[in-house]
Amino acid sequence: MSNNKLIIFDTTLRDGEQSPGASMTRESKLRIARQLEKLGVNVIEAGFAAASPGDFAAVKAIAEAITNATICSLARASENDVRRAGEAIKPAKSGRIHTFIATSPIHMEHKLRMSKDQVIERAVMSIKTALEYTDDVEFSAEDAVRSDMDFLVQVFDEVIKAGAKTLNVPDTVGYSIPFAWGERMKELIATVPNSDKVIWSTHCHNDLGLAVANSLSAVLNGARQVECTINGLGERAGNASLEEVVMAVRTRRDIFNLETSIDTTQIVPASKLVSSITGYPVQPNKAIVGANAFAHESGIHQDGILKHRETYEIMRAEDVGWNANKLSLGKLSGRNALRQRFTALNIEFATEESFLAAFNRFKELADLKSEIFDEDLQALVSDESVSKVSEHYRLISLRAHCETGVLPIAKVVINMGGEEQDAEMQGGGPVDATFKAVEKIVNSGSELLLYSVNNITSGTDAQGEVTVRLSKGGRIVNGQGADTDIVVASAKAYLNALNKLYNKAERAHPQI
Ligand code: KIV
Ligand code: ZN
Repeated sequence: MSNNKLIIFDTTLRDGEQSPGASMTRESKLRIARQLEKLGVNVIEAGFAAASPGDFAAVKAIAEAITNATICSLARASENDVRRAGEAIKPAKSGRIHTFIATSPIHMEHKLRMSKDQVIERAVMSIKTALEYTDDVEFSAEDAVRSDMDFLVQVFDEVIKAGAKTLNVPDTVGYSIPFAWGERMKELIATVPNSDKVIWSTHCHNDLGLAVANSLSAVLNGARQVECTINGLGERAGNASLEEVVMAVRTRRDIFNLETSIDTTQIVPASKLVSSITGYPVQPNKAIVGANAFAHESGIHQDGILKHRETYEIMRAEDVGWNANKLSLGKLSGRNALRQRFTALNIEFATEESFLAAFNRFKELADLKSEIFDEDLQALVSDESVSKVSEHYRLISLRAHCETGVLPIAKVVINMGGEEQDAEMQGGGPVDATFKAVEKIVNSGSELLLYSVNNITSGTDAQGEVTVRLSKGGRIVNGQGADTDIVVASAKAYLNALNKLYNKAERAHPQI
């Protein structure tokens, strides 16, 4: 890559997946990976292959399916992790192994219990092992922000000699501020021998709300790869948000003088897809992808915009994919039209039967809602319809009664492992009554951590998309459900979360 190219390394499927409850199935990851390919990211960090057999399978499936981006797997600096990553990315047209080890005194002493020499030895061994699988090897010095500068220089010198091609400098704990982060990047590039032979990368967390600012400061000081995620999803307060980094570089070309390969019109569709799959809503005032990002409320602003758009707009909504939500289909649309629209949305069905089930749901929705948008179609498709995994818990019917002055009551019928069961409960509201009735049948013993409702499109006939976060035995899952009736959407979301608790295998966390 020439020096005015900025590499966009997307880690939504790895660091993003480390957000509580955001863990995704292989099918969901594939859908997001296809959208990331459309978006034009250079590198997709598809997961952490050694975390679990499911993660391995997801990385491998993405490596098989995606041809227009480099597919990367994370690996701790251990031989087993690196070999698992190497095997998982083998089918990729272009594959990368990203290995890392912590370099800060606090991590080395308390987490790794390793000396500096041992850390260097492990880093070098991992890179040499990774090179048996691919010549595209990235190394990260975890917690670089709190690492001693002389030691960082020594580590990076050794990993360049060992054959790493990309050196990533992470602010793992979101501690830095833009000026200091830029200085750190500048100093490393100036001091590490042969620094011009590698790509320098930045990976910032958002604990102080500075991940994008820090990343951009690193770019201004020589970084040519930014690690980021759609909607800024990620561990704790998240990672640098891809859309903000890309649009800052594009909008302020006068300052950055850099190009990315991103098709910016695919940003909003990517944001919506990630939000609906992970159950992490986008705040309305979020830059670029928030519902209000281009809405001008004040009369003075509206007047200015009407007279001359640039008075208050530095970007055009259509350039980032707003208005791209096509009025897809209507009541009279047939199977072929629906199939084509699903294909355009990168949605493939595992069986003809599951496509027909989605077609029936589409027809039911078209009876309730006159205009059906792409977002509605995305919400129609659950993991179960694109995979062969069956649902253990399935909603058969729901009746909820609300009346002022009367305690709400709900009766649910669910299919649980092939057997129909029903229960009726009262609650503080219809949703509370519904969840109580489900629990009366399932008795899951889980704790409800979050309940949220968002409208998928506008208007009172819009589908409500509900997210339910449940926790049980240290595991956290998000469930989603969509329906024009939000009580039904809530029941679906609750059952979706219960299915995830029921199905999911254990997985390791990369940073433990
Ligand atoms: O935040 C971090 O340090 C990471 C590394 C694994 C790159 O995610
Ligand atoms: Zn991270």
